[in-house]
Amino acid sequence: MISNVRLIDIVEHIDYRGGLIAIESLKDILFDIKRVYCIYGVNPENKRGEHAHKKLKQLMVAIAGKCTVKCQTVEEIKEFELCSPNKGLLVEGLVWREMYNFSRDCVLMVIASEYYDEHDYIRKHDDFVKAIKNRTLSAD
Ligand code: TYD
Repeated sequence: MISNVRLIDIVEHIDYRGGLIAIESLKDILFDIKRVYCIYGVNPENKRGEHAHKKLKQLMVAIAGKCTVKCQTVEEIKEFELCSPNKGLLVEGLVWREMYNFSRDCVLMVIASEYYDEHDYIRKHDDFVKAIKNRTLSAD
């Protein structure tokens, strides 16, 4: 695990009819859910994400198929394979994220702590590097 990025277990309720997962605001995840969106139909050659957020907290769950999420924090870069509805990747704080290696059937559900706000995005990697340097300096 790296700080600001953590894999969490999600309970699956499976019976002869199929499976079900439930995620409750302020219980299973420690933020209030304001938005849910899904990424799907991604060509395996394509990448999504390639940005960081200033404030947003997110939980990513591959509810079908699989994909890889690369996270860069102030400390390190790490890849996480999401391939089951019973695992969620919790991402909060200044984290550069890139999603790739999508299987054609992948549906990546993202649960977010805030409404969509373009001002919360850092879309240039250089700006992200500056932002983590500034945070590290102000924390010293
Ligand atoms: P984009 O940020 O490029 O997606 P990704 O993080 O997967 O690379 O968003 C694609 C489009 O969808 C863009 O026009 C903005 C829009 N969008 C919303 O309207 N609401 C949302 O919650 C999100 C995440 C994106």
